[in-house]
Amino acid sequence: MIDGDQTVDESLVRFVRATGPDHTDVQAEMAAHAEAESFPNVGRGAGAVLQLLARLADAETVFEFGSGFGYSASWFLRGGAGRVVLTEFDEDELALGREFLTDAGLAERCVFESGDAMETVERYGGPFDVVLVDHQKSRYPEAFEAVRRKLSPGGVIVADNVTRGPASFSAVLDHLESGEPLPADDDQTAGTAEYLDRVRTADEFDTAVLPVGSGLSVSVKRR
Ligand SMILES: C[S@@+](CC[C@H](N)C(=O)[O-])C[C@H]1O[C@@H](n2cnc3c(N)ncnc32)[C@H](O)[C@@H]1O
Repeated sequence: MIDGDQTVDESLVRFVRATGPDHTDVQAEMAAHAEAESFPNVGRGAGAVLQLLARLADAETVFEFGSGFGYSASWFLRGGAGRVVLTEFDEDELALGREFLTDAGLAERCVFESGDAMETVERYGGPFDVVLVDHQKSRYPEAFEAVRRKLSPGGVIVADNVTRGPASFSAVLDHLESGEPLPADDDQTAGTAEYLDRVRTADEFDTAVLPVGSGLSVSVKRR
């Protein structure tokens, strides 16, 4: 199947889902809502990785840039996160997230922050054990700079949509492989490429891209 400028191996997608955790009842409702609204949440395959990262990092605090109605947060909470800070500038999405997470019995471990995530993060000193970057692709590099010193040693920053989504991935690839210039009029592609470049060359981080869901870039801060 071709999705944007990427080929998606459907049998691999099915395999990852079939071998990963099932949705809880509330997550299944969230997924059905996302499907009905064509809302781009991380999906079940990537969600399972978020759960794993929270567990591996023994996460006390998770900060999300772009939470929608709380689907990705629900995976961090399943992974034992003590607290998830959800940020969302669409108040209706955030209110729906509060409803879903209340139904799931998880809302007490959530902080719901309405408004621009880039402003919200300035009010938090950290430390963050896991950060999810899943808002405007043009602002991914800015998000990395906002949290790189607030991440705890051993903490993780994970960015969604690095292989699939609104950016042109063939342009990102040509840029990273051969230094081709990025399209001047496409700030989502430029933001994605610059983010990947920054995390890959940041001395204090080890980074790998996991080709799961829409592509997760995972960077761990050295201890
Ligand atoms: C891809 S969706 C997030 C999905 C969510 N992480 C999940 O997997 O369930 C991106 C969301 O980020 C929100 N958003 C984009 N830029 C934002 C910003 N600067 N501050 C707060 N929310 C933002 C959008 O309204 C949208 O709901």
